[in-house]
Amino acid sequence: MTSTELAREPLPQRIMRKIKHGMGPWGVFLEGFIRNPVMVGSIVPSSRFTINRMLARVDWANTKLFVEYGPGVGTFCQPVLDRLPREGTLLVIDTNPLFIDYLRRTITDSRFIAVHGSAADVEEIVRAHGHEQADYVLSGLPFSTLPDGVAPAIAAATHRVIREGGAFLVYQFRRKARSYMARHFHRIDEKYEARNVPPCFLWWGWKDAD
Ligand SMILES: C[S@@+](CC[C@H](N)C(=O)[O-])C[C@H]1O[C@@H](n2cnc3c(N)ncnc32)[C@H](O)[C@@H]1O
Repeated sequence: MTSTELAREPLPQRIMRKIKHGMGPWGVFLEGFIRNPVMVGSIVPSSRFTINRMLARVDWANTKLFVEYGPGVGTFCQPVLDRLPREGTLLVIDTNPLFIDYLRRTITDSRFIAVHGSAADVEEIVRAHGHEQADYVLSGLPFSTLPDGVAPAIAAATHRVIREGGAFLVYQFRRKARSYMARHFHRIDEKYEARNVPPCFLWWGWKDAD
């Protein structure tokens, strides 16, 4: 914004912009939620307890491609990059351009790729970035509020894109997400994380050999 535009900006908008700026990533997340509450699904990013517990079961030494759906403002991104091998890649996919733009500006790690798109197109996106399959896919998508047909399509595409021995990692407030996973992943581990707002289920769907 130029100084003339700033001077003309109505007071309520100016106050809101200052509040958002002062809140850093939380402000960006809040703005994303206000603009699209159904697709974002939550007003508070995941807690460090959820992050550490969810990622603890990943075999990092054998992870070349880690995919994340719905990274938002990147709550999981740095913890994933901290654990990922030097030659690994973290590929994140989000439908919200505000979040993708924010992530591209703030995460400069050469192993990080942010794609503006839908998780339903994960196979095409993975191939476009030179990979056949992903080792792990992590999802914070609001499965129960996605438009009709999207959640089953994402679960099916995710099962196809994960290599044998890999896993689909899902954290959600409602049990519904598990039912989409269970159509494809026959071995699912479950935990409940109370130290999250709101508390959430954690699932690991393992892709076993057929
Ligand atoms: C609850 S937020 C997840 C926030 C973040 N991962 C965290 O842990 O705090 C859900 C995210 O899913 C994104 N989203 C919704 N539908 C999507 C889709 N079909 N494909 C990719 N991202 C999607 C939203 O834009 C939002 O960033």
